[in-house]
Amino acid sequence: MKTILTKSAAEAAKFIRDGKLAAFPTETVYGLGADIFNEAALEKIFQAKGRPSDNPLIVHLGNIEQIEQLVSAITPIAEKFIEKFFPGPLTLVLPKAKEISPLATAGLNTIGVRMPGSHMALEFLRLCETPVAAPSANLSGRPSPTTWQAVFEDLGGRIDCILQPLKGGETEVGLESTVVDCTGDAPLVLRSGAVTLEELQRAVPGTRYVEIDLTETPKSPGLKHKHYSPRAEVVLIDDVSQAEASLKNACIGLSVVPTVSGDGFGLVKICQTVPEYAHSVFEFFRECDRREIATIFCEKVAAEGLGLALMDRLQRAAQK
Ligand code: TXA
Ligand code: MG
Repeated sequence: MKTILTKSAAEAAKFIRDGKLAAFPTETVYGLGADIFNEAALEKIFQAKGRPSDNPLIVHLGNIEQIEQLVSAITPIAEKFIEKFFPGPLTLVLPKAKEISPLATAGLNTIGVRMPGSHMALEFLRLCETPVAAPSANLSGRPSPTTWQAVFEDLGGRIDCILQPLKGGETEVGLESTVVDCTGDAPLVLRSGAVTLEELQRAVPGTRYVEIDLTETPKSPGLKHKHYSPRAEVVLIDDVSQAEASLKNACIGLSVVPTVSGDGFGLVKICQTVPEYAHSVFEFFRECDRREIATIFCEKVAAEGLGLALMDRLQRAAQK
């Protein structure tokens, strides 16, 4: 299959309307889109990614009215989050409408919905004229793509189209959306992300986050699968001085590498802030793989604000 690259949101949206797959940039990471009401197209998502069928998809809205087609109820809690954070990097889990295929929800009676914040994503989604199911546009298990080149690296030849941004390349946030289950008495954060726990708690006091015990059956099926992994081994360190300088090794963190100003490593990235670290980490992982780095040392950050999501992704990448 030839993968068409285009900067035209209209051209990419036509693929969706024709029952095909198109990858598109959002403010978090690239998504691999298909029409939520076309079962054959949904099947193609799982095939193209090599995604296990027990991992449900997030459905993307071009306008808030489309939510009515997807959910059977909007809880008062969800209304608060919608008012405060839509459009933006937040996914709400709600009871699903009966018309939604179990393929999209992995047989669950709930559905994840989100309205992305970036201008290009919204333009594309409106032109699709249907809500769009879209997981991250990577091969299953690989780091989520933050550039169109990373999408092409994983899915070139396997999908119909990639929508390229008009300018610039990297998605703004670099980590996936926060996923919040709004079906219970109190909101429960299933996946930390760009909307922070602290922000959610300010909007709805009582919002909870339970750190995932990887030995238990997780509430969000996707969380049990191995994620975000480069081929290189990932080692978390408290301080960059613990990183072992070698041309086969790489290092990313917030502090300056004390040894030989970094040039003892195959690749080094010093970030000024936690948002910059979050923005850069998945592309750094991919670049390490392109250079056949053996070990990536990642400096830990405080698990607060965006740091909670960053630490979650680092811990998953380091998991064996
Ligand atoms: O930022 C993002 O969320 C990106 C962009 C493309 O929107 N999408 C994304 O999708 O990261 P994906 O498929 O890679 O991750 C979706 C996560 C998985 O952990 C999945 O299990 C969870 O959301 N999820 C989806 N629907 C769910 C549901 N009904 N109940 C619980 N968890 C759900
Ligand atoms: Mg994913």
